[in-house]
Formats: sequence, structure tokens, C-alpha cells
Amino acid sequence: MAEQKPEYIEYWSQRWEEGRTGWHSKDVNEFLVKFYPQVTGKDLPSTALLDPSSEEFQENSKKTWFVPLCGKTVDIPFLLGLGYRVFGVDGVKKAIETLDAENKLDLKFDEARSVYEGAGGKLKIYCGDLFKCPIEEFGPFDFCWDRGSLIAIEYSQRLLYRNMLQRAFAASNTNKILLCNFYNFMLLSFRYFVLHFCFRLQIKISHIC
Ligand SMILES: C[S@@+](CC[C@H](N)C(=O)[O-])C[C@H]1O[C@@H](n2cnc3c(N)ncnc32)[C@H](O)[C@@H]1O
Repeated sequence: MAEQKPEYIEYWSQRWEEGRTGWHSKDVNEFLVKFYPQVTGKDLPSTALLDPSSEEFQENSKKTWFVPLCGKTVDIPFLLGLGYRVFGVDGVKKAIETLDAENKLDLKFDEARSVYEGAGGKLKIYCGDLFKCPIEEFGPFDFCWDRGSLIAIEYSQRLLYRNMLQRAFAASNTNKILLCNFYNFMLLSFRYFVLHFCFRLQIKISHIC
């Protein structure tokens, strides 16, 4: 019997079914671009698609980005184009299959592991609840790019989210985590962006813009 999905995943499923995906951007996230040098320790190349035979592409191929709650973000094809490996998580099949269709990633689904795999083996996406993901099977990770999770998950689950990041980076030498969230304060009726790096054992805000 199929496992019952938690209510919060049903909520996101319904949004995907109804096309209520207003958070999605057709452009690579400006903060990923801006902080790429700080996170990776190298300049962003002048061209978005690196030549796969280039030294930089080959070097990047040894590194893996963890992208929790990935949706169909174009940041994934962007990172793949630079040579990186990417591991994403999303609880909604439609999100992953749309990402695949829009970017021709040739993803194949392994039902037993609930994992999509494609882009020449460089992209894996776990399809399921982030909090149930056997994250240790997919690491180690070098970097994490997360846009929107702290908004998407319920307040009461934020500690679970932090624990997941700790587990994800427990086996890594590097733990560069770039989080980007937008908060919409209805009462004040203005929106601002909060961006912070967070490191191994705690979420430590080191940059806000
Ligand atoms: C606000 S969207 C952000 C998507 C992406 N990061 C972006 O910038 O376009 C949140 C995504 O997380 C997924 N999601 C929400 N809660 C989840 C959970 N607990 N486990 C896995 N996926 C989840 C939703 O299906 C949705 O695609």
C-alpha cells in the first residue's frame, strides 16, 4: 500500500497541480551568482556553459551541491552547466518531471529508492519528504544552495531542517551553505530579502541584504 503523504507535501502537490508556482524564476538566482565566488572560492566564469573538456569543468565535476526543496529551479541546470554534480530534494513528482521536461535532463526514476537520476549521472533528485530523506546515502556534499526553504517549511519544522543540514554536511570537509529566503511581512507590507551563510552546527547569519 502506498505510504500516506504528510499534509504539507499534499499542500505543495496541490500547488504544483494548480500551477501556483509564483516563486519560480526563469532566471538564475541573483544571490547564487553574487555569492558564488565566496562559496566556491573561485570567480564565476564569463560563460554560463563551460566546455566539458576544460580544466575548470573537470575540477567542478568533483564537487557536489546539495539543493534542498529544489522545485524546478533553473539554478540546477546552471550548476550542471558549470560542471558540478547536484543532489536535489523535492516532495512533488510534478516539480521534478517539469524540471526534467523544461531542461532536457533525461531523468530516470528509480521507484525503489524514490530517486531520479540523469544529466549523465551528475544529477540526482530524491522525490519525497526532505525530513525522511536518507541523506547520508547521497553525500558527501561540498556546497549547499537553498532558496526558499525556511519560508516553505512550517515554523515548527525548522529544527528538523537544521538537523538535516547538519547530517548532510557531517561527512564533508567543507560546509559552505548559502541560504536565501524572502520574507513577506504583511503587516508592514514590504518584502525584503534575507541571505545568510550557515555553517556546520548552527545556522549563523553572516550576511543580510
Ligand atoms: C518555495 S518552493 C522553492 C523551490 C526552489 N527552491 C526555487 O527557488 O524555485 C518549495 C519547494 O519545496 C517543495 N517542498 C516543500 N516542502 C517539502 C518537504 N518537506 N520535502 C520535500 N519537498 C518539499 C515544494 O514541492 C516546492 O517545490
